[in-house]
Amino acid sequence: METYGLHHYPGRLFVVEGVDGSGKSTQIALLRHWLISEGYTVFFSEWNSSPLVKKTTSRGKRKQLLTPTTFSLIHATDFADRTEHDIIPPLKAGAIVLADRYIYTAFARDVARNVDRQWVRELYQFAVQPTRAFYFRVPLDVSLNRILTGRTELKYYEAGMDLGLSSDPRQSFTLFQQRIVDEYEAMVNEFDLTIMDATLPIPEQQRLMRRLVQPHLAGVRRLRPPLPEKVLENIAHSLEISHGAKNQGLR
Ligand SMILES: Nc1ncnc2c1ncn2[C@@H]1O[C@H](COP(=O)(O)OP(=O)(O)OP(=O)(O)O)[C@@H](O)[C@H]1O
Ligand SMILES: [Mg+2]
Repeated sequence: METYGLHHYPGRLFVVEGVDGSGKSTQIALLRHWLISEGYTVFFSEWNSSPLVKKTTSRGKRKQLLTPTTFSLIHATDFADRTEHDIIPPLKAGAIVLADRYIYTAFARDVARNVDRQWVRELYQFAVQPTRAFYFRVPLDVSLNRILTGRTELKYYEAGMDLGLSSDPRQSFTLFQQRIVDEYEAMVNEFDLTIMDATLPIPEQQRLMRRLVQPHLAGVRRLRPPLPEKVLENIAHSLEISHGAKNQGLR
């Protein structure tokens, strides 16, 4: 596998990063639909989604068996499996790969759990460097409000309760997420992350994201010409409704 350095595959790799509730999945879903409508072949890969580790992770979480190091190794296993099966083959074939969370999530979360900064970077040195990595920067009170809309409870590991920072899940979540934010902020220069103002309205962020992605699409093969404007408007309309951005004019 390629190491960190720039890959030489014909495809492109775009990744989204940021704390829980910063709007990553919303934006990458919209980007994906746009790229497909433009005629590109798009693959999508999500953090911690490999069937290889699913059972182990949920069992470990349910029984609270996971130390920060085992957590880190499980996520690296998941990532290695997805890199080999879901990321490198489409890049080799000249497709566009979109990743919802990437190595920076491990670097931020594991270090927030006191894993050694250098150790975790070395663990992931087989990763392919993204064409562009977007970091969704958002104040913690905004992201907390977003993820608590529609539910009242925070999950044990999500709130960083395993760290013993506070017995109050909300307080623990805030302290844990602040550590994660500090790591992300330090990585902006280290890994040349592209900062997105994640407090902006959904359509505005999406317009910006497309503008930043566009220059990287030169030379990428399309399966077919872009869809007609009318069809695009219909797709945008249905997406706006499903993402609560109705009437804000995405296109
Ligand atoms: N710019 C925005 N303004 C207001 N609400 C937003 C914005 N972006 C996303 N949301 C809403 O915030 C919630 C979280 O968004 P989303 O699931 O995209 O975040 P995420 O970064 O993927 O979170 P996680 O890391 O937990 O998967 C959703 O209900 C979404 O509709
Ligand atoms: Mg998400």
